[in-house]
Amino acid sequence: MTTPDLPPVWWACALSESVNDKQPLAVVCNGEALALFRNASGEAFALEDRCPHRRVPLSLGTVKPGGLQCGYHGWTFDGRTGACTAIPNLRDTERVPPRYGARAYPVAEANGFVHVGLGGLERSRPTQGLSSAGYQPQGREFTGAATVNMAHGEYLAAMLDGPDCLLAFDGVRMTDFFLGDARREGGALVLDRGAVWKNQMLPSNFVVDYPLIVRTTLALAGGAVQVDLLDADESPVVTVLMGASPNRRGTTSLCWRGFWHAARLPGAPLRWRSARALGKPPFEVFHDIKGAAIAALLVAPSRDLDAARAGLAVPFRASAAA
Ligand code: FES
Repeated sequence: MTTPDLPPVWWACALSESVNDKQPLAVVCNGEALALFRNASGEAFALEDRCPHRRVPLSLGTVKPGGLQCGYHGWTFDGRTGACTAIPNLRDTERVPPRYGARAYPVAEANGFVHVGLGGLERSRPTQGLSSAGYQPQGREFTGAATVNMAHGEYLAAMLDGPDCLLAFDGVRMTDFFLGDARREGGALVLDRGAVWKNQMLPSNFVVDYPLIVRTTLALAGGAVQVDLLDADESPVVTVLMGASPNRRGTTSLCWRGFWHAARLPGAPLRWRSARALGKPPFEVFHDIKGAAIAALLVAPSRDLDAARAGLAVPFRASAAA
């Protein structure tokens, strides 16, 4: 799968709670090494994870009131502008040269993720292109982060062609039956597939009413993915929101958060309801992805994503959300 040049986008590259005002967090987002941190007021910042002095990773440094201090010689960099604000041992008559500075990136937070704008986004447009604003957790959230041994484009393709290779909903078997074609909704591609409870036999009817739906919503630009488990009436049961971005050497950085909607599900197995009552996670995002399963996937709806990203004339169904 090829990924053409895309417009500048926000990338969800860390869970909000993993970025603090004590220790910077190193991430790789869309191939860029970043050091994320907050000031004492809670504002998040992103600097290139490379000190402009001797190229030591800034993520090895310490957060100070004036910004992020490099751990090697102690230069400090402002989070918003990247400007060097302090160099230890300067004489009283010396000033920090204004050209000294680290590269700073625009940062915005939404849906419990720290988003970094890569490719020319302006800080004055902080919400443009942010992922779903419809993520409204109820009760306990389940979160995580991982780097998976799979290229970003292939990860997104598999999210459409075979999401069961990448994640699982507890007690649910995803089928390979698509409930309609992939459709365009706003800046995303949406695909529904039928699902059943694992203890359930599918009737042999030609037309089957699936009791569950797995809906994958994949942003055309960037790496925002939302996967919803819905009941037959399309009421949400579980929602998972993910940020996926290219890491180095053909790997993909993931961070995610999701929750159970506490929906009443008369057809749910007792084991499923008991697990929810005990607070067990309703889904799992796989850290180890089986290569054989990925290799066996048919390339199907991901062709629509490929085509949409390439800007080809693909006949998408009109949508109210478009
Ligand atoms: S390498 Fe960072 S201050 Fe010298």
